[in-house]
Amino acid sequence: MKLAIGSDHGGFELKNHVLKHLEERGIEYKDFGVFSEDSVDYPDCAAPVCEAVLSGEYERGILFCGTGIGISIAANKFDGIRAALCSNVFSAKMAKEHNNANIICLGGRVTGRELAFMIVDAWLDAEFLGGRHADRIAKIHKLEK
Ligand code: RB5
Repeated sequence: MKLAIGSDHGGFELKNHVLKHLEERGIEYKDFGVFSEDSVDYPDCAAPVCEAVLSGEYERGILFCGTGIGISIAANKFDGIRAALCSNVFSAKMAKEHNNANIICLGGRVTGRELAFMIVDAWLDAEFLGGRHADRIAKIHKLEK
């Protein structure tokens, strides 16, 4: 699995911890930035990761901002992106099993490092259950039209 990863300045530090965790798990990724804590605008950080996932080159993405809220709102403006803001392990598992979230978002000022690793692992290791959940997702995408 190849992941597209991005953050704004508020998510920069947590992103770096998660990148190390992914390396330890042997998961391939590309870091789309940012690469410092200089202030930036989170929609600009969401865009390259969403485009990378939608291109099909990257299977899934992880986005970080201060709360995870702004970057998830921005990501969900992209047709075909299902970005789930996750602050607990159960939601992360459900985000894949029920919502087939192709991006999860975390808040660097909200979620601690170890919990973030557990959230990321729960989402990466879960499988989409399909069936009625696929029907519901199809309805979401109809709303985009
Ligand atoms: C940046 O200060 C902050 O607003 C951003 O990281 C994020 O939390 C927005 O939702």
